Amino acid sequence: MKFFIDTANLAQIKEANELGILDGVTTNPSLMAKEGIKGEENIVNHYKTICELVDGDISAEVLSTDFAGIVEEGKKLAAIHPNIVVKVPMIKDGVKAIKWFTDNGIRTNCTLVFSAGQAILAAKAGAAYVSPFIGRIDDSGWEGTELIAQISNIFSIQGFKTEILAASIRNPNHIIKCAELGADVCTCPLDSILGLLKHPLTDIGLAKFLEDAKKM
Ligand code: G3P
Repeated sequence: MKFFIDTANLAQIKEANELGILDGVTTNPSLMAKEGIKGEENIVNHYKTICELVDGDISAEVLSTDFAGIVEEGKKLAAIHPNIVVKVPMIKDGVKAIKWFTDNGIRTNCTLVFSAGQAILAAKAGAAYVSPFIGRIDDSGWEGTELIAQISNIFSIQGFKTEILAASIRNPNHIIKCAELGADVCTCPLDSILGLLKHPLTDIGLAKFLEDAKKM
């Protein structure tokens, strides 16, 4: 399973990248706004900086919701760097645009996916990635990871090449469940990635080894 970081924060991207386990980055308008990135030039420059920091796929989301607007924006985003993947919402014009991008050699990440039916449509249109939002499904009272299992099963039976990019990760256990259920990618906040490191027995064991090392 590939690890992406789900942020537009450069310090966090650098920290995850320095761990040596980072395969890519996902952003969205909320994450860009959180970093105070405003205006077309600053947005483009921010994506360029992320592409220079991380050697992997970088998702950049369109803001348009109509076919022509999505295509125009997506072409501009894709021109920033070969690693840019155009992130397109799961709406009717989004599906049409994903098919257009597929036919024109531009890779896409279909975002805001909350059902297996939506994932099938994205795969049929040729999306490189489909992003089920598991944390938000949990928030609505359902089990988000069940959707990962269902999509994984369908894609495997049908031979769809679209990669399952588990998004809206809220904790380390989500990452473990996604790995177990066949997600191809997990895009995670930094603290969920770092949370995988933690185990009290590791801390206790290390303290004992360091104590005993003084007697060596
Ligand atoms: O990038 C999309 C997704 O990961 C958002 O997560 O925490 O806002 O539901 P969250």
